[in-house]
This record gives sequence, C-alpha cells and structure tokens, in this order.
Amino acid sequence: MTRRLAAGNWKMNGTMASLSEITALANAHPAPGVDILICPPATLLAEAARIAAGSAVMIGAQDCHPAAAGAHTGDISAPMLADAGARAVILGHSERRADHGETSALVAEKARAAHAAGLLAVICLGETLAEREAAQTLAVVAEQLRLSLPDTAGAANTVLAYEPVWAIGTGLTPSPAQIAEVHGVLRAHLADRLGAQEAGALRLLYGGSVKPANASEIFAIADVDGALVGGASLRADDFSPIIAALASA
Ligand code: PGA
Repeated sequence: MTRRLAAGNWKMNGTMASLSEITALANAHPAPGVDILICPPATLLAEAARIAAGSAVMIGAQDCHPAAAGAHTGDISAPMLADAGARAVILGHSERRADHGETSALVAEKARAAHAAGLLAVICLGETLAEREAAQTLAVVAEQLRLSLPDTAGAANTVLAYEPVWAIGTGLTPSPAQIAEVHGVLRAHLADRLGAQEAGALRLLYGGSVKPANASEIFAIADVDGALVGGASLRADDFSPIIAALASA
C-alpha cells in the first residue's frame, strides 16, 4: 500500500527559534505508514535538515528556479536545495501562481528541474471561488494537471496537492463529496497519462484549512493520500494530531 504523506508548508513564517518545532516532530513516536515533510522558508532549510537527519521527518523547500545555476538574482535552484538537505519542493502553490504570475508551463519546467536534482515535486493545483461558482472546477484542475506535470513525473518523484484557492487560510473546506470528485478526476487523468498502476501509486494530497479537528474526516475520503497543511503545520502541537489522524486513517 502507498505510504501516506503529511506535508507542512510554513510559507513566509519562521525564524531560527521555530526550529524547535522540527525538533519536537523529529523526536516524536513514528507514525506507521506515514511520511512527514516540513517545508520551512529557505533561510531555515540547512539547519532544519541537520535537525531532522536520521528522523522520520523530511525537509523540503517551497519553490525552485527551473535552471540549475546562473544569473537569476534572488532565486534558488533545485540542486542548491538538495545541497542544503531538502528532499522535496512545493511547486505551483496558488500563492506563487497569484503573487508571481507563475503559469502551469513554468511549474512543469520547475518540476523537471526538481526531478533532475533528485527532489520530490509536490505540485499544487486548485480552482478559485469564481471558477467553482461557474462550475469550472473539474475543467480547471484537469488543465492545470495537463500543463503542470512534466514528462519526467511518476509516482516515485511527484505528489499532487489539490488546494482550492478559496479554502486556503480561510477556515473553509469543500465537502467530502467535492474533494472526492476532484481527486477522482485527477486520478483518472493520471491513469490516462501514466497508466493505472503508476496513477494509483502517485499520492494525491488535499490542502486548504486542514486542522486537527477536520483531519480524520478528510483522510477518510476516497483518493486522499495525505494533506498539505499551512497554518496548522507551524506548531508541532497542531501538526502532530494531523499526522496521527493520517496514521489511523
Ligand atoms: P492552510 O494552507 O492550511 O493554512 O489553509 C494550506 C496551503 O496553502 O498549503
């Protein structure tokens, strides 16, 4: 059976003092069948990776540049992230698509770079509220998937995170039926692209206002293999019950 994944996205939060949260997660009892990923800001990556080394916690980044090196002031490449100890990178988060105008084609280039550097690519997609209200959700996510997934992608090096934009940081979540519908469609498109076996093994995360209080209900939904968690990943006391809910799902 595919290992589930509890992924935390710290976004632009955290200083050296926050590393104690990673220490707490690294020292916790292992959660059977669950991979744990924390993606702190780039400033904390190397130290976080040092703290997590040898534990069940993997450290990841939140973005990378498509090129391996060069004249790109302020950017960080996938090989640099790997060198700092990252094992994964979040790509195409809706905040980057919105704040930095990232297109799905650029996300695919970044994912290809991540794969070349040996990183797990956590590719995010999801509809806006206007798109959901216009009954465009399934078409939007299918198109994002088609364009964001590079031809290097497979179950071993890629995870998809369905994150409705309107559910991120709002306390709102789709109904279980709405999540199941989107994940089912994503799985079907993956099967067309990669074959049924590979598609079945590629992990589909739900993200958007996952909290200790709703985690069990979300993890019981068909085709949900884990979560990408923002706010509730910042403190080990909040993230640990989410990991535990996934272990018992
Ligand atoms: P949230 O963020 O859990 O704070 O809603 C999720 C995300 O953006 O990945």
